[in-house]
Amino acid sequence: MSEPLPGPGLVITPEGLRGRTGRYEKRLSDLDGLFADAEAFAARLEREADRVIYHVDEFRPSTETGDLITGISTLSPGRVGAEFHMTRGHIHAKHDRTEIYHCLSGHGLMLMETLDGQTVVTELRPGVVAYVPPVHIHRSVNVGDEDLVTLFCYPADAGQDYEIIARSRGMRHHVVAEAGGWRLEENPGYVPR
Ligand code: NI
Repeated sequence: MSEPLPGPGLVITPEGLRGRTGRYEKRLSDLDGLFADAEAFAARLEREADRVIYHVDEFRPSTETGDLITGISTLSPGRVGAEFHMTRGHIHAKHDRTEIYHCLSGHGLMLMETLDGQTVVTELRPGVVAYVPPVHIHRSVNVGDEDLVTLFCYPADAGQDYEIIARSRGMRHHVVAEAGGWRLEENPGYVPR
């Protein structure tokens, strides 16, 4: 009988991550235009343009239909003005492709939005699995005071369209700090699709 092969995939160990096929980092300077408070952003940019705001480690075996991409996203805590750190956000280039995010640690939100501007929020705490339905724009927001770490999984042929958010000058709602917690605030510059 032949010996079994070790299965590929991500392995989370106390020393870190094994098995990833890629990694990317987003620094503060990469997030220009994302936050509503341009003055607060400029002030932080002067001091910490190179600071990594979030990074993603992924296992991407292929981009074939039927395959899956799995990864771990780590989003640092902090704010720009009143607004919490967040990822750029996107809709899948193939709009009907779905995704799950399993919160491993931290406190955050999966902020979602339909094409006609309906906001949908799942609060992320350790153990919560957020489901991103078809045709939903989505981004993570860290509303806590430690790293927000999520494990995500989505179809390998999904692709990402980031411009859909830029074209509407942001998502419909900002997530801002209030009284030690968070609340949604209408984005006054929002352009309906
Ligand atoms: Ni996605």
